[in-house]
Amino acid sequence: MSIKSYKELLALREVGRIVRLALEAMAASVRAGVTTAELAKIGGKVMRENGARSAPRLVYGFPGDVLISLNDEAVHGIPSDSRTIRAGDLVKLDVTFEKNGYMADAAMTVPVEPVSSDARGLAACAERAFQKAMRFARANHRVNEIGRAVEREVRRSGFRVIRELGGHGIGRTIHEEPSVPNYHDPLARQRLTEGLVLTVEPIITMGSGEPKDGGDGWTVKTADGSLSAHYEHTIVITDGAPTLLTAA
Ligand code: CO
Repeated sequence: MSIKSYKELLALREVGRIVRLALEAMAASVRAGVTTAELAKIGGKVMRENGARSAPRLVYGFPGDVLISLNDEAVHGIPSDSRTIRAGDLVKLDVTFEKNGYMADAAMTVPVEPVSSDARGLAACAERAFQKAMRFARANHRVNEIGRAVEREVRRSGFRVIRELGGHGIGRTIHEEPSVPNYHDPLARQRLTEGLVLTVEPIITMGSGEPKDGGDGWTVKTADGSLSAHYEHTIVITDGAPTLLTAA
């Protein structure tokens, strides 16, 4: 969507605030021995207490309030009692909530210490690639300048983006136009305009960058079993630095 009124901005800020609260509550509880279902319960509690709903459940029938993916699972992992977090894991927390008809989406990667320096580097790179892209996530730049900045930073760091996964317009539903690829897609030439709401979300890996179906109908894994990391905010395009709706 593109924001047309202050009221819409406030509604998006409100749902973005709840997404942030849920991510922070879950991140604070990540440690060895906790199951992904227990983490999801913490996020779900924040969601309900603040009058929000799970957007993936609402829009796609996802069987959980939040998405939690471990290690070689890149995205869309289903929280489960049988998935216990262990030291050395990379825990990807991905939260999309809806409130009063507006949606916001954010993700982060939490390393469970002690982790290898490579794994820590991968997680840091996803966030750094996001930050680099913010210089281009501005009115009059083209959508593909975002992906160019993301992939440049990721490759410079010795990693790869998973090209099949990327950012998207958002606001009234989860996935809106435009797609925001994490690489320079020559076809993604659309110019960004003030008020446009979208996600920027580097999803990156140490391996080849090929994805594969995780076999449960939702999870996407890396084909070669390599670790992946994810970092995401919902942003509003302006003349200058974008407004981050899901930041602290
Ligand atoms: Co997203």
